[in-house]
Amino acid sequence: MIIALTGFMGCGKSSVGRELQTLLGCPLTDLDSYIEEKTGRSIPEIFSEEGEASFRQHEHDCLKRFLEETPEDETVILSLGGGTLTTDGCRDLIKSRTKCVYLRASLDTLEENLRDGVEGRPLLKGSGSLRSKISGMMKKRGPVYETAADIIVDTDGNSFAETAETIKKIMDGDDTVK
Ligand code: S3P
Repeated sequence: MIIALTGFMGCGKSSVGRELQTLLGCPLTDLDSYIEEKTGRSIPEIFSEEGEASFRQHEHDCLKRFLEETPEDETVILSLGGGTLTTDGCRDLIKSRTKCVYLRASLDTLEENLRDGVEGRPLLKGSGSLRSKISGMMKKRGPVYETAADIIVDTDGNSFAETAETIKKIMDGDDTVK
């Protein structure tokens, strides 16, 4: 089983992924790092040299490649980029091959987490307030995450470790967990 973690930039996908990796004792791949490894370039470099459409193509190709090289019977965690589910091709791959967990965070939490995290994130740079950028993108993306996810976990007020525990309990079939 591939456990795919999705959610907006700054929701904690990579950090929760690392906690879940410790809890489940299985490998973790960060899709952005995988793209950087396969293309030999950083995410900001790809954005500035080729633009977003080209980044999305790399993202799709890398996701497809990762899924092809991951055996069906292995448990692995895949931390997605915040925009991975916005393209039809990636969404179809994720829906067909993974158990997708949406880490849902409020605008306040996202803004707080992203205040010092704009540097490596091309889509949050430029003029306008950080909050209005997050809010504008979340209006479009929120429903996309919710529709694609098999499981939704609200993360506000919980540590990354607590969120990982919640995911594990849901995976283990604990129906007292909402
Ligand atoms: C993006 C999110 C980033 C990265 C790229 C685009 C997005 O990943 O894939 O900058 O469209 O939301 P994180 O969500 O890990 O920051």
